[in-house]
Amino acid sequence: MSAEETRAHPAWLPPEAFRALGARRVLVHGDGSIVDTVLDEVARACARYGGRVWHSPSWDVAVDLVLALRGADELPSPSAESARAAGEAALVAAGSGAVLGDEGFLLARAGEVTAVLADAPAGLLYGLFHLVRLGPAAFESTRPPERHRPALRRRMLNHWDNVAVHPVMGQVERGYAGGSIFWRDGRPRGDLARVREYARLLAACGINAISVNNVNVGRTEARLLTDRLGDVADIADVLRPYGIRVHLSVTFAAPVVLGGLPTADPVDEAVRAWWSAKTRQVYERIPDFGGYVVKADSEGQPGPFTYGRDHADGANLLAGALAPHGGVVHWRAFVYNHHQDWRDRSTDRARAAYDHFVPLDGRFAANVVLQVKFGPVDFQVREPVSPVLAAMPATRLAVELQVTQEYTGQQRHVCHLGPWWSEVLRFAPWGPGGRTVADVAAGEAGSGGGLVAVANVGDDVFWTGHPLAQANLYTVGRLAWDPRLDPRAVLDEWIALTFPPSAIADPKLVGRTLHDVMDGSWRTYERYTAPLGVGFMVHPGDHYGPDVDGYEYTRWGTYHFADRDGVGVDRSRASGTGFAGQYPPYWAHVYESPERCPDELLLFFHHVPYGHVLHSGSTVIQHIYDAHFAGVEEVEAMRGRWRTLKGLIDPAVYERVERRLDEQVRSATEWRDQINTYFFRKSGVPDAHGRRIY
Ligand code: GCU
Repeated sequence: MSAEETRAHPAWLPPEAFRALGARRVLVHGDGSIVDTVLDEVARACARYGGRVWHSPSWDVAVDLVLALRGADELPSPSAESARAAGEAALVAAGSGAVLGDEGFLLARAGEVTAVLADAPAGLLYGLFHLVRLGPAAFESTRPPERHRPALRRRMLNHWDNVAVHPVMGQVERGYAGGSIFWRDGRPRGDLARVREYARLLAACGINAISVNNVNVGRTEARLLTDRLGDVADIADVLRPYGIRVHLSVTFAAPVVLGGLPTADPVDEAVRAWWSAKTRQVYERIPDFGGYVVKADSEGQPGPFTYGRDHADGANLLAGALAPHGGVVHWRAFVYNHHQDWRDRSTDRARAAYDHFVPLDGRFAANVVLQVKFGPVDFQVREPVSPVLAAMPATRLAVELQVTQEYTGQQRHVCHLGPWWSEVLRFAPWGPGGRTVADVAAGEAGSGGGLVAVANVGDDVFWTGHPLAQANLYTVGRLAWDPRLDPRAVLDEWIALTFPPSAIADPKLVGRTLHDVMDGSWRTYERYTAPLGVGFMVHPGDHYGPDVDGYEYTRWGTYHFADRDGVGVDRSRASGTGFAGQYPPYWAHVYESPERCPDELLLFFHHVPYGHVLHSGSTVIQHIYDAHFAGVEEVEAMRGRWRTLKGLIDPAVYERVERRLDEQVRSATEWRDQINTYFFRKSGVPDAHGRRIY
């Protein structure tokens, strides 16, 4: 294989995406490593497409585009200076104190010049990638001024990458894209060029923080905090010019396993001193280190419970060590009993995060961010939004999404998650018209915890195994920047960047086809897998493919309770686990009754007879059959659509996707047949349309 063939796919930054920019005369004004990144991007584009770039203040030139830091000196070029003045005027006209903040930027036209202004270097970088997205439209003379600032301050990815290969979970836990881009067999992977490409892609979609090791911290990974810190510093050096900070997952037991102390008790003075000293050393090496990510007392990870302390004690211990340096601790709320007895009907895993954390509201230090999975169970294709997000007004909350497709087809299936995340972020926990999940994550005046997503990349040539899964990564960054974006528009943005119209014979057909294949794919996936919000029904362990009773008699707390009469989990207050009562009144009232509960969540909240009539007019059992037959037909149609792209796009992308669509058809068919057969055998109710059930 030639070097060219082994190079990673350019994803949403192919050279062609820079054509409009690269054909211009560009002035970059400002200094610093991030400005150098901007300059380098522009210079490469101009070298390819015939434009020119100048780095002021040494030139008096006529330009088409100026990218300038507002605080920098007067510009020597009159056309650039007038563009900057026009931008300043637009900013004042926009009001809000003419502030762009650490990451915001303004785009304005003055005569024939486009100006991007920022208060800080990162803003200039985000402005540059905005220009790339706009393409030629950035240079239309009638374009009105635009001001952009991120809605969420921290837009973070958690890598579940192991340094040493885990005997069960491998190099990347729940990774479906090959090895780690950071680590291999216990050592750094040693390809920082790849990490740099990654940083560039992340900056272009708005991500500004990543944790580089798994939340399940093994012995080798623990040492990243101490004698392996240099490996983390090397990564931080590569990410810094792209405005991305490094965070580290740490083990709560670190004082014992690394420091040789007899305890990790959060109130122990020696433990506190140990964390302070280690944290100081981290900042000596990585001055802009972001902070720690902690999974404590969860699925076997150590935590404060061992010492009779609670999670506020635990989180505040690390927060105290980080505070003098400006760091944060991301403390995960994913805490539940994973040794449940399936016979015990009183324990409900969905309740756990609320029961553990809500009583602690107000006790967390200011630099603790409580990181809450978006749903109460575990990243299912459909769950209600976690009630914790509405119940801790005195705590900084981050919402956690899963980009890696653990429960959504493992990057073998097309499952574009943008529409689902958009629903979650727009959900109003206090009732329609009220504050949204995105508002909670943003917080008052930017004080919220932001958005965190479990990453989906690996050392695969397409980054994400399934080339179309790249769009999930792109989308999560864009929605974290602006949760109000229409996910369909974001998908089209990704399509236009990744499959640039100027490089394609029939761009309209390609764009439309990709959109049609991807846009509805999350709902399609939902149709052929577990029905009506009931969740799981996946094969235990690897979580791929159907196994209806796979978890039914296990300790994991994920049950569906199907019997001959009905299916679903009664989580009402009246007769069930009471989980519905964890919501503010509006939704507590809606979810409490099977009559009011939305169809798509019915079996999450209620155990109902197979003959129960949904709002759709169908019965539960007939819905199960119909949805599963429809889901497979949709996947077949998806594959048919894809085949019309043969010869029109990069053959390597085409082939990879086509092979995976074959697997998706096979797997969806298996899901359909197992689910339909299972429920037919349980209920004895035939399909109203007489289709084949086994
Ligand atoms: C899921 C997943 C685990 C992961 C856990 C977490 O349960 O299957 O692999 O460790 O989530 O979020 O911590």
